[in-house]
Amino acid sequence: MSSLRNSIVLLFFILSTLTISTTAQSKPRSLILPLTKDRATNQILTRLDLGTPQVSRKFIVDVAGRQLWLDCYSGFSNSSSTYRLARCGSAACSVSKADCKSPCFLPPQPGCFNNSCTVLTRNPIRTTGGRSEVALDTVSLHSTSTSGARGGPRISIPNFIFACETVFGLDNLAAGVEGALGLSSERIGLPSQISTAFGGSLRREFALCLPSDSNFDGVLFFGAAPYVIANRVDYSTRFKYTRLVKNYERTASPNVPGAEIPAYFVRITSILVSESPIPINSSLLEFRRTGIGGSAISTVDPYTILDSSIYRSLVRAFESSETMKKVKKAAAVAPFVNCYEKKDLSIGRMGLEVPKISLVFESREVKWDLFGENSMVDVNDDVTCLGFVDGGSDTTSSIVVGAHQIQDNLVHFDLHSSRMGFTNSLLLEGVRCSLFHV
Ligand SMILES: *[C@@H]1O[C@H](CO)[C@@H](O)[C@H](O)[C@H]1NC(C)=O
Ligand SMILES: *[C@@H]1O[C@H](CO)[C@@H](O)[C@H](O)[C@H]1NC(C)=O
Ligand SMILES: *[C@@H]1O[C@H](CO)[C@@H](O)[C@H](O)[C@H]1NC(C)=O
Repeated sequence: MSSLRNSIVLLFFILSTLTISTTAQSKPRSLILPLTKDRATNQILTRLDLGTPQVSRKFIVDVAGRQLWLDCYSGFSNSSSTYRLARCGSAACSVSKADCKSPCFLPPQPGCFNNSCTVLTRNPIRTTGGRSEVALDTVSLHSTSTSGARGGPRISIPNFIFACETVFGLDNLAAGVEGALGLSSERIGLPSQISTAFGGSLRREFALCLPSDSNFDGVLFFGAAPYVIANRVDYSTRFKYTRLVKNYERTASPNVPGAEIPAYFVRITSILVSESPIPINSSLLEFRRTGIGGSAISTVDPYTILDSSIYRSLVRAFESSETMKKVKKAAAVAPFVNCYEKKDLSIGRMGLEVPKISLVFESREVKWDLFGENSMVDVNDDVTCLGFVDGGSDTTSSIVVGAHQIQDNLVHFDLHSSRMGFTNSLLLEGVRCSLFHV
């Protein structure tokens, strides 16, 4: 009896390992990473397993970052048995568009190896950067389950290319963060490297669902839909699409574009308050050859940053609405300028009931609606602020859509078709980004 039970247990064990290994060997449709919102800084973070043995490490998520980089002062390069430095002239150096390093006359150590190659990396919060050595190691992510509704088996990707940072450090990054996860469309960006690792069967696309609550994870999908958040509903059917726009670094000469900027740029054509357009100097919304103007998407800025004249126009329209005329102003709480007494506002399923703010793209049909949950930020129990930041009158991009406005909205970056899709707030359907279970 007992031996029969043992055989059954053994059989189950064999069957379950077989299922896992065949799933692992077959090409996954999508891979996922958890997204968290750091309580102290509001930075959007993820955890990625790196090296052998695998160690889970925290990274800030930067859609505008070229590549994955890790702080290598920590001794990472000698703690992982699968770590390799990319050799000057190797495929990894060319995929990274890296330059060969000049000889180093200090003792060999991370940042000082001959015959290596280096790329520019930057700390997205300090916007300082430096040259970091290109390295390779194994990364490991969850695939999605067959239904797509939760995390499936782990998949390892060997020889993943990243930058080993030893120059500028981790200043101003959330506690425990060891680097940045760059989601750019470049070949070294995560979406392209993950797609290449599976021979392109996993598409060069990703979708972000940023959490609004620090206690619960949101999700980042790599690969094509379905993007199932909860209730087995594939929210990709809700996407409205706008074209991604190429933008180039500013150079000394106004007519000579520099290198392509690895961030995601979109063309916002107007802003509505309660469905009425606010006055905006339209030249601010256009991209100029020098990399100035237009709009960008950011996961690193906690709140949307507006050029001063756009910010002032938005506040004027917002405060002249019937709803807001009845609401008492409160003292400003940085980084916000316009704050209000919460008791004068009612609350509904989309948050505080304030005038709806909409970002309009190609046409009035392609419209991103921001309700109270995404437009207002509670700074304490009594005071709420308009959750936009006045970026001054010398902005690089006139509008930078930040994390608070993106949260609880599924946003899709389709690098094949060079377009960005968004669902509008999932709260309209009673769903939040934290309802995906990894
Ligand atoms: C690994 O690197 C760290 C930092 O560079 C160093 O302190 C440590 O001694 C090294 N360990 C080994 C086993 O080489
Ligand atoms: C790099 O090569 C130079 C000679 O070109 C040599 O003097 C130096 O010691 C080497 N540095 C390292 C870190 O191996
Ligand atoms: C509109 O913005 C552009 C670019 O900043 C500026 O040159 C122009 O003077 C502005 N026009 C008006 C009417 O303010």
